[in-house]
Amino acid sequence: MDIKTIGIVGAGQMGNGIAHVMALAGYDIVLNDISQDALDTAMALMAKNMERQVSRGKITQDDQSQALQRIKTTPNLIELGTVDLIIEAATERESVKQAIFEDLLPHLEPHTILTSNTSSISITRLASRTDRPEKFMGFHFMNPVPVMQLVELIRGIATDEPTFAACKKVVDRLGKTAASAEDFPAFIVNRILMPMINEAVYTLYEGVGSVQSIDSSMKLGANHPMGPLELADFIGLDTCLAIMNVLHDGLADTKYRPCPLLTKYVEAGWLGRKTDRGFYDYR
Ligand code: CAA
Repeated sequence: MDIKTIGIVGAGQMGNGIAHVMALAGYDIVLNDISQDALDTAMALMAKNMERQVSRGKITQDDQSQALQRIKTTPNLIELGTVDLIIEAATERESVKQAIFEDLLPHLEPHTILTSNTSSISITRLASRTDRPEKFMGFHFMNPVPVMQLVELIRGIATDEPTFAACKKVVDRLGKTAASAEDFPAFIVNRILMPMINEAVYTLYEGVGSVQSIDSSMKLGANHPMGPLELADFIGLDTCLAIMNVLHDGLADTKYRPCPLLTKYVEAGWLGRKTDRGFYDYR
């Protein structure tokens, strides 16, 4: 099946990055969010990020204006009914994702493929609550989407081959690289990355090092582009905690126990860059 139109649910950090790269690759996009403010902010952010790409010679002014024209925004889920592929990129809570798919289902065409950009939640379980588990899979982008080369493609237990092939073709057209992952908690990237971030928080919690020394150790000593605490702030501490909980619950191993300090920051509402405060103070 040839995908031409893509519906994206959620216009936050991930949703707007996904709309950005999809529109530049020539897909017609319907971007949905419950809040019109979030949609307006996403359009302004995409324009700004594309502007930066124009100024660095990565794309032309014409590419930018055509891509922005390909994106239609709507607060009504019903307007996603006729697209070929849905990418759900809402908040990392299973109940929220399930409610979105339930609301979408009555409006969808039979051929529409459903995917989730979840970073950790079971694809098989999300799929089982829909009318098309064979046309359901994980489509997981990395942040910042316009920069990161990888997309994890995750098969649920029932995902069929034409669905996987259609999504793989989309990743190829984006010029990104697909990594195929099986449906186990947090898949590949977050199965490895989140325990490292959680261990960095334990390193801080136990007083082994300061925020600065932990981050500069990993930047200068292991050549990571960002230190683990800076990266946690960038991803969002609520998202990091949610993923650790999925690993802890799903694999029932104490090695995935979320650090109490991570939990405390989330309880305080210190979620990282998006709230101007996390391990660093951005105010
Ligand atoms: N849109 C478009 N371009 C962007 C951008 C955006 N949102 N953000 C950065 N860029 C571009 C810049 O224009 C710049 O382009 P050039 O190379 O052409 O100059 C390039 O990216 C580098 O940006 P900067 O110079 O501003 O900053 P930097 O060199 O410090 O790099 C970074 C920033 C790319 C974010 C880098 O620090 C990095 O790679 N960090 C690690 C990110 C990472 O690990 N992401 C994965 C998180 S895990 C995840 O996403 C999975 C999950 O489920 C939680």
